[in-house]
Amino acid sequence: MFQEDIKHIYPVFERLTSRKQKENKLRQRSKVIWLTGLSGSGKTTLSTLLEQELVKRGFLTQILDGDNIRSGINSNLGFHAEDRIENIRRIAEISKLMLQCGVITICACISPTEQMRQMAYQIIGREDVFEIFVDTPLSVCEQRDTKGLYTKARLGLIKNFTGIHTPFEKPAAPDQTLYTANETERQSVNRILTEILPTITF
Ligand code: ADX
Repeated sequence: MFQEDIKHIYPVFERLTSRKQKENKLRQRSKVIWLTGLSGSGKTTLSTLLEQELVKRGFLTQILDGDNIRSGINSNLGFHAEDRIENIRRIAEISKLMLQCGVITICACISPTEQMRQMAYQIIGREDVFEIFVDTPLSVCEQRDTKGLYTKARLGLIKNFTGIHTPFEKPAAPDQTLYTANETERQSVNRILTEILPTITF
């Protein structure tokens, strides 16, 4: 049925106004900044702080945060492996649209497996992705427990919780690694800015 439907699709990508034209209009080069790490590792905090710093410098940005996306377009998805893959696939597809629009896109989603992340980067285009591993140890995330979810997961009130019941695979070759347990949020964001600014500046 699905295969049948797809036969009658006629994409018009080549007729759309190009990414270059949009980047020129915005006077910036677009990029997808992908933050991966455990729940409570600091992805949301860092992405919001990073966005503020980029906006201050005149860039047009968009954050795609796991929790936000899951309360909207992905509200029909849970945390089983299949749903997580679909969650990441949609975030990657949205990122690609943003990228084509010239927008600096910051994704903050656990994206726990290498396979999921590679799927995302294949959709977006690896050269357009800057992968940041927010490398905060599980013990620190659990101690912070900002949303109280680790306590609930330990009590068995949440199933399939990343780091407790399901694994988080460290990225094999991240473009940058941040150690939020040993540096301040400011220091982490400054380190991202040092890497990212030369690549997005017009
Ligand atoms: S991902 O694994 O599919 O990439 P995503 O980043 O979208 O996860 O969502 C993670 C957020 O969902 C967490 O920060 C947490 O607030 C919430 N959450 C709810 N249930 C779970 C769970 N079982 N595992 C991980 N995060 C969960």
